[in-house]
Amino acid sequence: MIAVPDNPPDRSRAAWSEDARLAALSQAAIAITSELSLDRVLQRIADIARELIGARYAALGVADEQGRIRQFLTSGLTPEQRLAIGPLPRGLGLLGVLIHEGKPLRVADIARDPRSVGFPAHHPPMTSLLGVPIKARGEVLGDLYLTDRLDGQPFTEQDEQLAILLAGHAAVAIQNARLHARLQELALHQERSRIMRDLHDGIIQSLFAIGLSVQETLHLLDTAPGEVRPRLERVVGDLDQVMADIRRYILDLDRSSQPTEGDLETRLGHLVSEFQAATPMQIQLSVAPELNEAKLPGEMIEHLIQIAHEALANVVKHAHASAAAVRLERSRRGLVLTVWDDGVGFDPRARRTAQQRGLRNIHARAAALGGSLQISSEPSHGTRVLVAIPLSPHARRPAASRQPAADSSP
Ligand SMILES: Nc1ncnc2c1ncn2[C@@H]1O[C@H](COP(=O)(O)OP(=O)(O)O)[C@@H](O)[C@H]1O
Ligand SMILES: [Mg+2]
Repeated sequence: MIAVPDNPPDRSRAAWSEDARLAALSQAAIAITSELSLDRVLQRIADIARELIGARYAALGVADEQGRIRQFLTSGLTPEQRLAIGPLPRGLGLLGVLIHEGKPLRVADIARDPRSVGFPAHHPPMTSLLGVPIKARGEVLGDLYLTDRLDGQPFTEQDEQLAILLAGHAAVAIQNARLHARLQELALHQERSRIMRDLHDGIIQSLFAIGLSVQETLHLLDTAPGEVRPRLERVVGDLDQVMADIRRYILDLDRSSQPTEGDLETRLGHLVSEFQAATPMQIQLSVAPELNEAKLPGEMIEHLIQIAHEALANVVKHAHASAAAVRLERSRRGLVLTVWDDGVGFDPRARRTAQQRGLRNIHARAAALGGSLQISSEPSHGTRVLVAIPLSPHARRPAASRQPAADSSP
């Protein structure tokens, strides 16, 4: 079956003014920078190439690192024709030449070219060919080609220049997509190793300790049976604790995928109630009323939320506290965020391992906002993490300013 395409581009070459060409080219550029999927961008580029150059057909192939065609988009073929032709071209014949040599190719009559291997069955007849590689930094990423100029003439040097330009757009789109995929992989990988590390540091260690304790209890069955019951009761308590840890941990993971909208007070409220749901310790939140009206920049809100999150996570993880509080107050020059707990405390000057990034992140976020971090803690005297952030004069309101309660323990 030889099908004649029934949808030739309706514009003749002459109809394309210089302006229209420029407009079509910039459309291709816009397609790339918009949020379209790679497939749709490449399809746009193939369509534009076909219309601009005035060809009956266009196609765009994306090769993998081995030069095999992995993605193939056509323009000018009906879906039935596309289906009838069958699977992806394998890059033999002229297409292979294009991919492997990486140079533009113009052929007046495909069938007569010695490098041609002929068309598969059910392929519409095609005569003239213009192909250009899609290249980035010397690497051939694929190719763009056009067949059958509508006026029956061979493709020209000018056609080739246009095709090269569009292939450049395609190269950018393909590279963007590859980069995006790599970044996603990396993020996933980092997320995975972070989860593994967290589980190992916390939950797996606790379970291991519980296992040991059960083994010891087994021995007590013979030597001191009276101690078995209290031991097992402790094990049950420890397991409850681990379950709570797991729940909290999952909540924590969830948080990163939650919407990041709303004002600071609302978001602090959500944060605190999430933590409250996962721990028996009482957590109090207070936000100075003047702060409700202050319009804080989104970036500042994000940093403050992450700071409060990390500080609260530390309280839950390390402090063994019975009470904690989060406070947001005005100071003369800005605002002050305090996270306080009545737990075991620690030595803030102690060396921390490379894995311990929480306090370091808090410090970096405070610095990013031009502010400062102060940690007051002593073993068995609780901990106070205080972050002071300056506000620009128009963001702070004069009258109701208060000093940061320098020695504030609720
Ligand atoms: N509120 C707190 N109460 C007790 N110890 C804390 C508190 N916050 C931090 N710490 C101590 O400081 C260390 C470093 O914290 P951080 O930098 O967040 O790392 P990580 O939480 O991963 O251990 C913790 O391991 C813990 O010993
Ligand atoms: Mg931490």
